[in-house]
Amino acid sequence: MQTLITEDAIQERVTALGAHIAREFTGQPLTILGILTGSVVFLADLIRKIELPLQLGLIQASSYRGKVTTPGELEINLQLIPDLTNRNVILVDDIFDTGHTLAAITQIVRQHQPLRLQSAVLLKKQDRCQVDLEPDHVGFTIPDTFVVGYGLDYDDDHRHLPYIAALDATDLA
Ligand code: IMP
Ligand code: MG
Repeated sequence: MQTLITEDAIQERVTALGAHIAREFTGQPLTILGILTGSVVFLADLIRKIELPLQLGLIQASSYRGKVTTPGELEINLQLIPDLTNRNVILVDDIFDTGHTLAAITQIVRQHQPLRLQSAVLLKKQDRCQVDLEPDHVGFTIPDTFVVGYGLDYDDDHRHLPYIAALDATDLA
């Protein structure tokens, strides 16, 4: 495993993202909607850097099943979603790869009629997008390599690492 983004670099970038979001939504109702499970670490850090009154909601989506690094069928669970009417909403996810996850969730959340709907991701993989959607807030653009840490997992391991690491072929074996 090789460190790709250090803990310090992540903290600095998340602080900047939080300040940017706070400036954009000053004086407006804001709900941050985290996508479980991968967003939890980013989500917890980001909301503490948005110096505004805000509400927090969660929705669950999963596509990977066990030891694979290509997505399977997407499952979305809306049981935890709060009332979004008359709220500005920012969807928060760990990583934007092909974009199918965020595009699918965006469509579903739109049906809950938020005022404005944006998205924030810690990572975006370069030249992988397959959908007509760009995340509004991006922490880092990374090459097309499988990464773990800071919420991201491989077979549900490594989420707790405070940095982002790239897995190599032997790790994936
Ligand atoms: P997308 O639908 O292709 O954009 O994939 C997004 C989802 O796939 C993310 O929410 C992650 O759960 C997962 N994912 C994509 N790339 C990686 C990676 O490099 N490491 C860990 N999870 C990943
Ligand atoms: Mg995941």
